[in-house]
Amino acid sequence: MKVMICIGSSCHIKGSRQVVELMQNAVREHHLEDQVELGGTFCLGNCQQGVCVQVDDVKHTGINSETFPSFFETEILAKCR
Ligand code: FES
Repeated sequence: MKVMICIGSSCHIKGSRQVVELMQNAVREHHLEDQVELGGTFCLGNCQQGVCVQVDDVKHTGINSETFPSFFETEILAKCR
């Protein structure tokens, strides 16, 4: 699974750095290093809606520290099991 976190300027301002940290920690915690390929990407074209994260070909917006746990659970963890 390929997980790309937008590090474009708009997402950066909205906290993509924190999302990157949350993601790295969560992947480590669940021992998904072999299954999840993490990367950064430039603007995904959804700047208005908060930090954008692309999982394989699907873009998810509005990721922040509050929405991260449920996003990770349903979009990453559930698909890795
Ligand atoms: S800067 Fe992230 S979607 Fe545009």
